[in-house]
Amino acid sequence: MKKHIVLLCLFSSTIVATQAQKKIWNETEAQKKERLAWWTHDRFGMFIHWGTYALAGRHEWVKKRERIADRDYQKYFDHFNPDLYNPAEWAKMAKAAGMKYAVITTKHHEGFTLFDSKFTDYKVTNTPYGKDALKEWVDAFRKEGLKIGFYYSLIDWHHPAYTIDRVHPQSAGSDEEYQKLNTGRDMSVYRKYLKDQVTEILTNYGKVDVLWLDYSFPGKHGKGRDDWGSVELLKLVRKLQPGIIVNDRADLKEYAGGWDFTTPEQFKVSEWPTYEGKKIPWETCQTFSGSWGYYRDELTWKDHKQLLVLLIESVSKGGNLLLNVGPTARGTLDHRAQEALRKMGDWTKVNGRSVYGCTQAPDEFEVPDHSLLTYNPQTKRLYIHLLDYPLQNFTLKGMKGKIKYAQFLHDASEIQIREPHGYWSKKVLEEGDINLALPVNKPEVEIPVIEVFLK
Ligand code: GLC
Repeated sequence: MKKHIVLLCLFSSTIVATQAQKKIWNETEAQKKERLAWWTHDRFGMFIHWGTYALAGRHEWVKKRERIADRDYQKYFDHFNPDLYNPAEWAKMAKAAGMKYAVITTKHHEGFTLFDSKFTDYKVTNTPYGKDALKEWVDAFRKEGLKIGFYYSLIDWHHPAYTIDRVHPQSAGSDEEYQKLNTGRDMSVYRKYLKDQVTEILTNYGKVDVLWLDYSFPGKHGKGRDDWGSVELLKLVRKLQPGIIVNDRADLKEYAGGWDFTTPEQFKVSEWPTYEGKKIPWETCQTFSGSWGYYRDELTWKDHKQLLVLLIESVSKGGNLLLNVGPTARGTLDHRAQEALRKMGDWTKVNGRSVYGCTQAPDEFEVPDHSLLTYNPQTKRLYIHLLDYPLQNFTLKGMKGKIKYAQFLHDASEIQIREPHGYWSKKVLEEGDINLALPVNKPEVEIPVIEVFLK
């Protein structure tokens, strides 16, 4: 027995020791909350995947999917000349849609950089376009008052020192083949390159609000924190941009300061994600259609109601939505994306108050049928999103005595709290419930919102 206790003590002290070591930087919970305050408030951002894969127009993974060799992929670089590129237009569209921040691929897996880098020739300034597209983008988005985010791919399918792994276009069939392919390749050389380029993007473009590193896939013929040098990398990032907010794909989950938010990709979470029992900041990244990069023939475009539900539902579970556009090789946004952005803007323009600064509603409020709740803890207002517009009588369970006033959000017209008329209607109300009298006609907004002023 005694022996067990001693062993247990030894064991738990090693756990404490390792946890204490696993720290990228010192920050209290309150400081972190403060650092993330703008991001948790803003809720809605634009993701932009743009690189030479836009010319192929068939997914940003085309090099891997079709196992294209460097020499054959080169034609996209040689023809990269987005003559209609006008990031001021993109920024205006993002802003009009209600987006408050944007994250762009400074380099995707293909290895091509949208910025002028001292460490590679495989960069935008060497294409026929010839200019630092990232610089232009940053200036334009900042001018519209949008926060700036950089996506940077940890994966690199172009760098000659980067070892061939299972997601590489040249991935092999056997261990021996991998060994042969990787002779002469050296991840320590690539690690240095990675660090140098991250230093460039975090030094040459002023304040960067978000860094989106992508991604780790540990295991056999995979890559993780040791391959990227993630601990050193994150220390560097925190030093260069102490206010920056970083995603969770550098394989540093157990490290304090190794990540700030989690990133459910193309996935609608069923509840607020947690880590070690605690609710954590999260952002779902989603495409309009099934690809991140421009994909001419891809047809699975979500309609704007689905997109709005995605946004509202994310906020109703305490999260953000990062919605992606894949600009064309001319530098324009696909007409379907433009239309969806416009329609989302029609909604956010009058209903944004139920999104910005809002979060999951306290448990005491029961979610009515076919609706989603959000809550603003500052103003103490509850927002009921009517996904399927009800017929006149709308019951709020257990809300008697809790409401000061109710109105439609889009036009601030009063919604009366009153007993339903008639024998049958009255029967639906139980002790403590109240009834909202809604107009028969659904208002001219895709998803009407009831703004409830709580006592
Ligand atoms: C994935 C894909 C990538 C995309 C990203 C967005 O990791 O590799 O193409 O950029 O997710 O979340």
